[in-house]
Amino acid sequence: MQTNFLVIGSGIAGLNFALQSAKKGKVTIVTKKKLIDSNTNFAQGGIAAVLDQTDNFEKHVEDTLKAGSYHNNKKAVEFMVRNSAEAIYRLIDLGVEFQKENGKLSLTKEGGHSERRIAFVGDYTGKEIEKILVKRVREHPNILILENAFAMRLLTQKSLFQRNSCVGIQIIRKNKIENILADQTILSTGGVGQLFLQTTNPSIATSDGIAMASQIGCTIKDIEFIQFHPTALNKNTSPKFLISETVRGEGAKLVNEKGERFMENVHPLKDLAPRDVVAQAIYQQQKNGQVFLDIRHKSREYLKKRFPQIYEKLKKLKIDMTKNLIPVTPAAHYECGGIEVDLNGQTNVKNLFAFGEVSYTGVHGANRLASNSLLEALVFSNQIAKNLIPHQKIKQTKFNAPKILRKNSKETLLAERLKQEIKKIMWEYAGIVRNLKRIKKEAIPRMERIAKELKNMNGTNQEIAETSNMAITSLLILKSAYKRKKSLGCHFVEK
Ligand code: SIN
Repeated sequence: MQTNFLVIGSGIAGLNFALQSAKKGKVTIVTKKKLIDSNTNFAQGGIAAVLDQTDNFEKHVEDTLKAGSYHNNKKAVEFMVRNSAEAIYRLIDLGVEFQKENGKLSLTKEGGHSERRIAFVGDYTGKEIEKILVKRVREHPNILILENAFAMRLLTQKSLFQRNSCVGIQIIRKNKIENILADQTILSTGGVGQLFLQTTNPSIATSDGIAMASQIGCTIKDIEFIQFHPTALNKNTSPKFLISETVRGEGAKLVNEKGERFMENVHPLKDLAPRDVVAQAIYQQQKNGQVFLDIRHKSREYLKKRFPQIYEKLKKLKIDMTKNLIPVTPAAHYECGGIEVDLNGQTNVKNLFAFGEVSYTGVHGANRLASNSLLEALVFSNQIAKNLIPHQKIKQTKFNAPKILRKNSKETLLAERLKQEIKKIMWEYAGIVRNLKRIKKEAIPRMERIAKELKNMNGTNQEIAETSNMAITSLLILKSAYKRKKSLGCHFVEK
């Protein structure tokens, strides 16, 4: 199979790019479950953008830098912020109906923001955007969608001056291995949350893009900066259900078991401090008991309208937001680092691009500012779609595909067991507070053993390949965490 633009992943970044580039050439989207199954679907909060007269570019840039501990690439931040309003208006043109009041976009607030600048749709912004994008993509005659297709490895050739060039991917689909060749391959595979025992991310977030890219020589940067969302619902579900930061944006307070508002003395922004600060404060409080969100002062009518999804979920669990405290706990939420790209999404491998959570543009620094993730995905996918042109230069080449797709149930079961072990190791050693000595002496050797075990397996199937990806990326995270000796943003080192 051959295509112009090969998009791997079906979150906001991949679908937005597909829609735009389909005007120029044939697009193929490969996604490992259904088109709708993406991390975007889980984004409750909204999209940050400079949309109000009281706000300006400088303030949004400064909030982003401050949240990121000034470890960001300022040029990339400025680029994203300057293009923020256009990204929102493009979604409106596609049919996304953001909440409005008196004909004007309603704007909410989250941690680290000095202004109300987040456009939203109830508490299900990601789901709404994904729904519209999926509809538009399905209608498009130039877009081929391959669902339940697992991208196994990136195919490369040596090009002029022996530089590595990506020419497509190898996938597992319907129990067969296929090659798809492409002029340009785009990774938009999302995040790494599933590497951790506690996460807000869905089961697809197994770090496949980062693992595959690292295997062909892409630079992986700042991958130790895993953002832990402070307020996942503290109930035994997998993934953990998110209690959006916008709940605090609309007045909820964090309290401990004694009813103390413990954020009052932690940061000038109190409950709306950047996420790294809040997650670490909760972690400390949890040594002495549970932590809760309190929004009981708001009326039932308001809460039902503003947070319909959260209200209903809690009701099912017999938690009445107007009467009860909501138990919360931090959980792995977002990878701030990733595959290094320039402002055009280009990796250091020719014809291979990345955007969205899988990429490192430098926008997030050491800790992402809330609601900048959908924005980054949109702005950079818009930019890449503007620049890329199909070149039709690929020759049909034979790649050495494994001859058979062997199902070995014993090995599949072992992979499943190793997956659980990876999650436990990562949660224990690369979680909210890290001990560098233990990472080096205990976590890295254990993860190396798991990676080796997976490499030595004979069978080829999605379970083994996915677990292998998780082990590869986990090792990269552990090694980068060990190298960063001082606390910075969401990398917090125990003294
Ligand atoms: C949230 O609604 O709290 C999550 C939004 C985000 O991660 O930016």
